[in-house]
Amino acid sequence: MGLFGRKLKQEHKVMLQAERAKGALLPEYHRPTPECPNPKRWSMYDSMTAEAEVLEFLRTIVTTIKPELVVETGSFLGVSTLWIAEGLKQNGFGKVVSCEFDPVVFAKAEEKIASSGLSEWIELRNESSLEMKIEGTIDLFFSDSDMPIREQEVTRFLPQINPQGLVLMHDASSHLKIVRDAAFKMEAEGLLSIILLPTPRGLVVAQRREGRR
Ligand SMILES: C[S@@+](CC[C@H](N)C(=O)[O-])C[C@H]1O[C@@H](n2cnc3c(N)ncnc32)[C@H](O)[C@@H]1O
Repeated sequence: MGLFGRKLKQEHKVMLQAERAKGALLPEYHRPTPECPNPKRWSMYDSMTAEAEVLEFLRTIVTTIKPELVVETGSFLGVSTLWIAEGLKQNGFGKVVSCEFDPVVFAKAEEKIASSGLSEWIELRNESSLEMKIEGTIDLFFSDSDMPIREQEVTRFLPQINPQGLVLMHDASSHLKIVRDAAFKMEAEGLLSIILLPTPRGLVVAQRREGRR
């Protein structure tokens, strides 16, 4: 229970847990799935922030494909945003626009980014991915907001995504079925070509079908 006996929102609960943990890594506790039977071999900071290995992957994807513009939905405490920004800094160009619609969580992310030394690579917005307006072509799109809206979100930005760029959809494990099904649906509709990385929470790496020439 939070202040005044109200039930704490999950994001706020995990935010307080993350503050208490002070950046300590834990074994991933997401349940085993057929595609990822040993999740404890991975590490995590908390249940909202992407797995530590996925954070490393995000940085490496950025240094590998050298995007001018990265868009992330769901900043939470800004940890994945900072790993993306590390990659941009290493590249020496580009920016990441990340949105977080919860104002309390947004304020925490803002604080963390301000003290990171990486703010010049980051534009953090307190708005919903379903309303956010982006100028220009998106080279890397990382969808990590609320699971039930991922299909809507990716569909909304798809026309702006570089056909040679990448779409990443987090939480696409067979247990967290909703995002996996959204990716399968978009593939069946001819919008995306997808591969499924067998990580504890699942990660779709996709490209617009249009880019496959
Ligand atoms: C799984 S967490 C993001 C974790 C973060 N990407 C990381 O790995 O460090 C999801 C976040 O998305 C936010 N969120 C949910 N729906 C959203 C929306 N429509 N637009 C922006 N943020 C949203 C939630 O408040 C939550 O903080």
